[in-house]
Amino acid sequence: MKPDQLKFLPYGRHSVDDEDIAVVERVLRSAWLTTGPEVEAFEHNFATKVGTKHAIACSSGTAALHLAALALGLGKGDQVIVPTLTFLATANAARYVGADVVFCDVDPDTGLMTPETLERALRNAQNVKAVFPVHLNGQCADMAPLSDIARRHNLSIVEDACHAIGGTLSSTDGISSPVGSCAMGDITVFSLHPVKTVTMGEGGVITTNDEELYLKMASLRSHGMHRHPETMKNQSLAESSSGAPNPWYYEMQELGYNFRASALQCALGSSQLKKLDRFVARRQELTNLYDKRLKPLFPTVRPISRVPYGRPAWHLYVVLIDFEATGLNRAMLMQALYDQGIGTQVHYLPVHLQPYYQELYGMSQLNGADSYYARCLSLPLFPEMEDTDVDRVVQSIENALAMGQGAS
Ligand SMILES: Cc1ncc(COP(=O)(O)O)c(C=O)c1O
Repeated sequence: MKPDQLKFLPYGRHSVDDEDIAVVERVLRSAWLTTGPEVEAFEHNFATKVGTKHAIACSSGTAALHLAALALGLGKGDQVIVPTLTFLATANAARYVGADVVFCDVDPDTGLMTPETLERALRNAQNVKAVFPVHLNGQCADMAPLSDIARRHNLSIVEDACHAIGGTLSSTDGISSPVGSCAMGDITVFSLHPVKTVTMGEGGVITTNDEELYLKMASLRSHGMHRHPETMKNQSLAESSSGAPNPWYYEMQELGYNFRASALQCALGSSQLKKLDRFVARRQELTNLYDKRLKPLFPTVRPISRVPYGRPAWHLYVVLIDFEATGLNRAMLMQALYDQGIGTQVHYLPVHLQPYYQELYGMSQLNGADSYYARCLSLPLFPEMEDTDVDRVVQSIENALAMGQGAS
């Protein structure tokens, strides 16, 4: 059968229902399409959900990372440690503010930065100011020891939780806290891009418990504009001759951006947040099912290793494949799966291999990331998948492997 005759299973897909559509329609008919009550409500809902003081909605996960780097005052001459197994944006945020990236290796079987890989990166760097651990695939980096190391070196911590909304971290005492609560870091960033567990169409959120960082990021999100009379620098323009604040007056005290999220995006975000627990639970069920169904293919095809701390909120279902044993290369396997109506993807080419970074920093040897990248493949995972879809994916892999064996 040709792919267009099958129900095609992409590697990820949003789940937007009539309730979400009705909420967005209501906003479209209202007086506020951008900044206003929907944005504030979404920020409140998000902060409550993840147990943090402040949440800032913005235009994307990339903008969230950029704002975090700006608020921390990172700049030229500073270094930021970033795991190389991530999406481009984690590293690019450091570059946007002129800082340099020190790429950190990852565990070959989880793709995560570890205390050992962080220590190694620190030994090879001179002026590190921050570390950006990534909670890859929805599984968390081991924040308790990572945070201890970072604090010992006086580093700021920005958790890239773009994959991990709905998960939990655990402290050294075993106390669990939601991803985004910033229990072991300064700032956490999220993406609500459509392939993520909940979506705003496009969008991002930043969480923090630090009042100063919050005020700075909120201001930089919208041009660095201030409207509070008590913080104005130019009192003669801010006030009338009677000393009353001029109602039209605003002040730009630093260079900011337009990284705002609209009321439409935020209304969708609030509606989606209500379903977060259900989406996370369904993704976990599908993950368990994959784990069970894939057992006969071990060790040629195996799920990434599970970490013993925290609770994941699976964004991707990633397997590690011994391609040599299959008689197929990755492109051949992806094509064979595509021909059976199965979409797959590779998350990610290690960022240090991107030409931009190679030209900037030369070649680095990061063996854990190389090994992970050589073997990884993301299989379909989204809440609306049926249990039988998992059977179909695994059967399609078996068919492809049989083809590989026949060819070798
Ligand atoms: C790990 C990670 N960081 C950052 C981002 C950037 O998020 P956005 O696409 O919302 O800008 C993504 C998005 O794919 C991501 O996966």
